[in-house]
Amino acid sequence: MTEPLLRVRSLTKVFRTGTRASHRAVDDVSFDLYTGETLGLVGESGSGKSTTARCIMRLIKPTSGEVTLDGVDVLGASRRELRDVRRGVQMVFQDPYSSLDPRMKVRDIVAEGMRINRIAASAAEERARVAELLELVGLRPDHLDRRPASFSGGERQRIGIARALAVNPRLLICDEPIASLDVSIQAQVLNLFTDLRRELGLSILFIAHDLATVRFLCDRIAVMENGRLVEIGDRSEIYGDPQHPYTRALIDAAPEPSPEHERAKREDRLRRRRNGDEAAAEASGPAEVAAPASEMDQPGAHSTAHTTTTQQSSRPPAVTWLRSIKERQ
Ligand SMILES: Nc1ncnc2c1ncn2[C@@H]1O[C@H](COP(=O)(O)OP(=O)(O)OP(=O)(O)O)[C@@H](O)[C@H]1O
Ligand SMILES: [Mg+2]
Repeated sequence: MTEPLLRVRSLTKVFRTGTRASHRAVDDVSFDLYTGETLGLVGESGSGKSTTARCIMRLIKPTSGEVTLDGVDVLGASRRELRDVRRGVQMVFQDPYSSLDPRMKVRDIVAEGMRINRIAASAAEERARVAELLELVGLRPDHLDRRPASFSGGERQRIGIARALAVNPRLLICDEPIASLDVSIQAQVLNLFTDLRRELGLSILFIAHDLATVRFLCDRIAVMENGRLVEIGDRSEIYGDPQHPYTRALIDAAPEPSPEHERAKREDRLRRRRNGDEAAAEASGPAEVAAPASEMDQPGAHSTAHTTTTQQSSRPPAVTWLRSIKERQ
């Protein structure tokens, strides 16, 4: 059996909350994430999702447990190893307003990680790659010289995604990346994640409050309650045959799908069919009659359509470039 990309065992984080009081925010959590997989981590507010993510990146020190990324023991890593781990794991945050430095231009925000890790061979290559990354996430070249304040929440989140992709991470951790966006924009950004993960073969830990969000995107889903991982399984198992009462409660509490999410899901199925990925399309819902092409082009239905083709020649350069870095790693 292939080794998981990320292996988490008995991860525990106890916060001291007073001289005698403590809080077990993450309690004996274990899971694996395989290369190319999108794993959803779902639970209500305070269940320990962000703390789990922060422990994985060693942004905070876990109380006990093991985290292995690509065979490297993250919790026992030397400074040098930790630098590699942090390059290999990039985060996309919930709040697109506070996660981008307001003083920096978009081109510098996206290029920063490339500079630190000396990824581009020259200034010209860096410029070209940054422009390509922007195109990949659905932004325009004239956005490059603007600062975050002039962008909407959804656009800022796209900038954050381009910044994360710029160093070609082995693992992307997305901590509720759509939670603070308008509902209509949420569907667009979810579409973007779906396109990117398929095109780039990304491995993603996708954190969300609700099961409706991850159903659209994830291969497997892990459910957290009060710091404990109460259930983990394939998407079809979690929705079709939930074992834990808390999972069932989350399914029952899921909001009715909005028209935007429905449209996003329909587009996703259509794209998969066009790409010949019938099995995946079936897994995401019942067969549907193809929507007229014009519907795909509506402003609210942003799609990085160029990223969905399987033909090498029509891939944007950023995809080919990111793949070439991956091969060098
Ligand atoms: N630095 C800290 N000190 C003390 N307690 C903390 C700290 N960070 C988090 N906690 C507590 O740990 C628990 C888990 O927090 P965490 O942020 O991981 O939850 P979450 O599942 O990400 O929630 P949300 O969905 O609201 O983001 C919460 O009860 C929180 O108050
Ligand atoms: Mg959180």
